[in-house]
Amino acid sequence: MSSTNEIRATFLDYFARNGHAVVDSSPLVPRNDPTLLFTNSGMVQFKNVFTGQERRPYSTATTAQKCVRAGGKHNDLDNVGYTARHHTFFEMLGNFSFGDYFKEQAIHHAWTLVTKELGLDKDRLLVTVFHDDDDAANHWKKIAGLSDDRIIRIATSDNFWRMGDTGPCGPCSEIFYDHGPSIPGGPPGSADEDGDRFIEIWNLVFMQYEEGPPGTRRGLPRPSIDTGMGMERVAAILQGVHDNYDTDTFRAIITASAEATGQDPDGPFKASHRVVADHLRSGAFLIAEGVLPSNEGRGYVLRRILRRAMRHAHMMGATEPLLARLVPTLNRQMGSAYPELIRADQLVTETLRLEETRFRSLLERGLGLLSEETQKLGDRQPLPGDVAFRLYDTYGFPLDLTQDALRGEGRDVDVDGFNTAMAEQRRRARAAWSGTGEAATEALWFDLKERLGATEFLGYTTERAEGELLSVVAGDTAVESAGPGTEVAVILNQTPFYAESGGQIGDAGIITGPGALRIAVRDTQKKLGLFVHLGTVESGTAKPGAPVVAEVDHTRRSNIRSHHSATHLLHEALRRRLGTHVAQKGSLNAPDRLRFDVSQPTPMTGDDLAWVEAEVNDRIRQNAEVTTRLMTPEAAVEAGAMALFGEKYGDEVRVVGMGHDPAATDKHGVYSLELCGGTHVARTGDIGLFKIVSEGAVSAGVRRVEAVTGAAALAAIETSDRALREAAATLKVNPGELPARVAALVEERRRLEREVADLRRKLATGATAEGPEEIAGLRVALRDLGDTPPRDLKGLAEAILKGGTADLVALVSSAEGKASVVVAVGETAKGKADAVALVRAASAAVGGKGGGGRPDMAQAGGPDGAKAAEALAAVRTALATVPA
Ligand code: ALA
Repeated sequence: MSSTNEIRATFLDYFARNGHAVVDSSPLVPRNDPTLLFTNSGMVQFKNVFTGQERRPYSTATTAQKCVRAGGKHNDLDNVGYTARHHTFFEMLGNFSFGDYFKEQAIHHAWTLVTKELGLDKDRLLVTVFHDDDDAANHWKKIAGLSDDRIIRIATSDNFWRMGDTGPCGPCSEIFYDHGPSIPGGPPGSADEDGDRFIEIWNLVFMQYEEGPPGTRRGLPRPSIDTGMGMERVAAILQGVHDNYDTDTFRAIITASAEATGQDPDGPFKASHRVVADHLRSGAFLIAEGVLPSNEGRGYVLRRILRRAMRHAHMMGATEPLLARLVPTLNRQMGSAYPELIRADQLVTETLRLEETRFRSLLERGLGLLSEETQKLGDRQPLPGDVAFRLYDTYGFPLDLTQDALRGEGRDVDVDGFNTAMAEQRRRARAAWSGTGEAATEALWFDLKERLGATEFLGYTTERAEGELLSVVAGDTAVESAGPGTEVAVILNQTPFYAESGGQIGDAGIITGPGALRIAVRDTQKKLGLFVHLGTVESGTAKPGAPVVAEVDHTRRSNIRSHHSATHLLHEALRRRLGTHVAQKGSLNAPDRLRFDVSQPTPMTGDDLAWVEAEVNDRIRQNAEVTTRLMTPEAAVEAGAMALFGEKYGDEVRVVGMGHDPAATDKHGVYSLELCGGTHVARTGDIGLFKIVSEGAVSAGVRRVEAVTGAAALAAIETSDRALREAAATLKVNPGELPARVAALVEERRRLEREVADLRRKLATGATAEGPEEIAGLRVALRDLGDTPPRDLKGLAEAILKGGTADLVALVSSAEGKASVVVAVGETAKGKADAVALVRAASAAVGGKGGGGRPDMAQAGGPDGAKAAEALAAVRTALATVPA
């Protein structure tokens, strides 16, 4: 018996031996297609290679691709559990030719692989071709030796494959396996083809066209090949079972589910075990890629899948969360082929446990309501839409859960009524909201949010993604088109652009699209869950409906990320140095710097800052992985994560862990653990370097630290280094000697200043000074002291009077271009002259507005330092005219 893992290896090995590149499965969330909810087949990652838009280093490839068909064009959710072959998650094995080989070689490979490598019995195989594809029919006849009755021509869309409403497509040829007459069913094309006897195992698509908007189709540059083999179906055949759920992988999970619930795997809960096994697979793979349960978009599809499984777990009597307990079994089965499951083990387990725990009590109460309501109904009478809506709105029952719950009674739900109730609730929300009197532009965002739903953010894992341009806003209104030069705000269905929040500024970058459309995005902001790209149309025309490629400015984002991660390390380091009273009061993470405000009553010392800087750099060099986990806010805080007081968090929060610290037992050995929705480096080493550039006060009790990381930190260090080098060169010392040299210079300057003051005094009072003149019987010393600092004038005047050579002194300084005047009247002149009157006269001469003081000592100033002589002359005149 071949295990699923062996079959996968056989398939990939065969094509590798035949020159095909073995390419990894692409993610379930397509990065390269705006129209697909999930990757639904192997060709999705090659879509642009088929159309010629993208080149790869190989022209043939093979993959084992994870696929989800739940929601969107290919949706199998409703049937899962009740049939042998429906899955929400499955693996598709495929080989691809991008303009290399075509039909003949594709048929040759398929036949060789199926009959020789996998050893299927030739006589149990038959094929279909598109009705007018003689080519394909002839190749089958020649290569496989199939008789005409086993090459069935089909005219319907069953034999024309499309990825979605648009994209590459072409006629196809399918290989069927006959499980034998013991199973009811007819061959493809017959009336009872839906029976289970003839099972399609492999689809070969002859890719020839690309479908555009309805009615348009163009030829691909070169005919190509896309194939898809259903792994689970082939495994069933090779393992001698008829039912996919009896193959090794599923059996292992179902056995674990049976053990956990005590319910016979093939007893009355057979379908429930199957639902649980299938939904566990899609749930785990989606969560491992970062899709998390939510009420919008892909997150809501995941929630619907999980809640549907949880009802079945509940029916089986599981009292503890069931899905989370089955993760180890799934990982044993599929972890070696898909290591992402192992890497995300913790996230998957916790997310499943959380979703199941939170939904449990709602589920019980909702099911109670459901049975009460159905008792009021007649046999097969549909459940009224408003009841289904109440279950949805109050108890979190996705519509498909309610439908699934009623399936056993053969009862439908009035879906129209459900939709009406939903629309009515929206209308009420809108009416209530308009009452708050917000601005007109806010009303626009509200309407757009209503119409478009929240934007899906892909930027945790990618910086480039395709999306659909849903709305173009110019000058406060949604417009049908916007040409070059227009300032626009555009909304996509999904985007890798981070919208400003939590201190991290919005991304910038480029959005391109058909017709040379190019929008330079300078910022991204969040409005009611919409990510609004603000920018300018540079070329082409921005129109709603256009498929576009959104690409984040990589360098800018890397720098933002590095500052944001450094902020987390800084926060923790500050708490360790200064105490746990340190709490975040504000933060900014920009490409060129970070700013972090914290509650802290006193300035940080140089030693504090040096310690914190060294600590952060230590953690950077640890180069530890940065981890993100999803939790309830309560669980996060319990796990030791720092949450911001008063901040509103959603039902689920991202918890970012950084750095090791075995001593931090309260945080399970993680250095920094914070609730955070921002984007972060993969490992702390990516931050490179951390440098504090300033510390200061913002308001009472709040200090601000500004810092830089990576290249910006290096630049900051280089700038100060250069300043040091230049200063050292000027002083002709080594930079290391600068502090001592500068201190010595400052000391020397003080000494010199003292010396100069001394000399000035000597000059003013000493022998070299001009002698006093005689005016109105008084010995008057009138002196222009040039640059002498004004503050020295009084002292000098007193010193002159003390010398006994003068009865009255008037001194003028013209330091820094301004005049200052001091008049001092000695004991010997008391009553004969008034210092205040004299100083006023002097002040008038230098453009001043008077002065003041006492009769024996007064001072004044004026703007005109050049008129020192006039000031002294004014004193002289005033003395001469005042009668003694
Ligand atoms: N893309 C083709 C399919 O999914 C092979 O069936």
